[in-house]
Amino acid sequence: MIIGVLKEQQAETRVSLVPEVVAALVKMNVQVYVESGAGEGAFHNDAAYTDVGASIKDRNSIASEADILLSIDSGNVPDTVRKDAVLLGVFSPLFNTQLMQNWAEKGYTVFSMDNIPRTTRAQAMDVLSSQANIAGYKAVLLAASKYCRYFPMFMTAAGSIPPAKVLILGAGVAGLQAIATAKRLGAVVEVFDVRPAVKEEVMSLGAKFVEVEGAADASKAGGYAVLQTEEYQQKQKAKIHEHAKKSDIIITTAQIPGRKAPVLITEAMINDMRAGSVIIDIAASTGGNTDLTKDNETIVHNGVTIIGDSNLPCSAAADASKVYSKNVLNFLKLVIDKEGNMNLNYEDDIVAGTCVAKEGKIVNERVLSFINPETTNA
Ligand code: NAI
Repeated sequence: MIIGVLKEQQAETRVSLVPEVVAALVKMNVQVYVESGAGEGAFHNDAAYTDVGASIKDRNSIASEADILLSIDSGNVPDTVRKDAVLLGVFSPLFNTQLMQNWAEKGYTVFSMDNIPRTTRAQAMDVLSSQANIAGYKAVLLAASKYCRYFPMFMTAAGSIPPAKVLILGAGVAGLQAIATAKRLGAVVEVFDVRPAVKEEVMSLGAKFVEVEGAADASKAGGYAVLQTEEYQQKQKAKIHEHAKKSDIIITTAQIPGRKAPVLITEAMINDMRAGSVIIDIAASTGGNTDLTKDNETIVHNGVTIIGDSNLPCSAAADASKVYSKNVLNFLKLVIDKEGNMNLNYEDDIVAGTCVAKEGKIVNERVLSFINPETTNA
């Protein structure tokens, strides 16, 4: 069986497989084809791949010969892919429903790594976690480098410096890593999330949890946030406003799968922030958590810098690729047998849950619920 690794396009610096993981696949009796230059953005040259047993090929050969084609970005998949190929990447199927339907009609079997069930067994394959962890870390470093003051408190002969006040909205994987990183840099950290369940985790990292009573019950949403009532949203806005105007740095990470990100920071709140403050909006690609965020742009409003960088994992491409590759390898181990042949066992909840399309149809309930909201139960 042949696994093909495509070179990603434009701003995507990561690669689906690093050489270390290619070596593990070669040991599993699989042939690996890598597009020339695929690893460059993550600092792996072609020789590093051939050294571990991969073959360097051009894009067309990979698209037409690979049984499993790896591309992180859906926009990078060429039209020349074999009709019976398996595609594996991070395809955002809840947002890209039309593309998923087109791929299903072409006959591709599509697995999207961002569909991996959030279960204990699937943790080693969870790309949302491995990449969000990097985003949370980098968001704080970016904020610290743009901020016009120190993060830690200093008592110096030239006067004392108070610590930076950081407000983090959303305590999922990215938010929790942002808390830990901001604390390491010496900031005072406050955190808000609609899921009261995260309060203990937040406090164990040394941050203060901002409470708003009356959140909608999210216990049946697989750990994700759910839409909140209008009344709760008003209370939440007032509370966040109160804390935002005292903050020097705000990191926003609040997302709701398949939907536009909630606006948590309004223009009025930003107007009340001190000039020189910095907002990093990790939710920029799904609309952003502020009124003013622009995806992949930095804007300055009344002296407040708002950075909508939705590509933060790409700024740590070597480690982002390393952990992404490990996630992919762990998933591939579920679908490759001892002889190195493909074995798609849909009885396995991870294989079934990650599959978006097969045999000409969309098969994922969550994706179907976004295509036909009235006819599905998901
Ligand atoms: P996410 O990226 O979907 O959202 C980030 C955070 O924003 C979440 O904590 C969410 O509650 C919060 N949020 C959403 N709307 C908000 C609002 N209006 N105001 C404030 N905060 C808001 O979250 P992520 O990191 O993907 O985690 C989602 C869940 O999955 C968590 O419960 C996490 O513990 C769980 N998880 C489970 C894993 C596993 O068992 N394999 C692995 C990773 C995460």
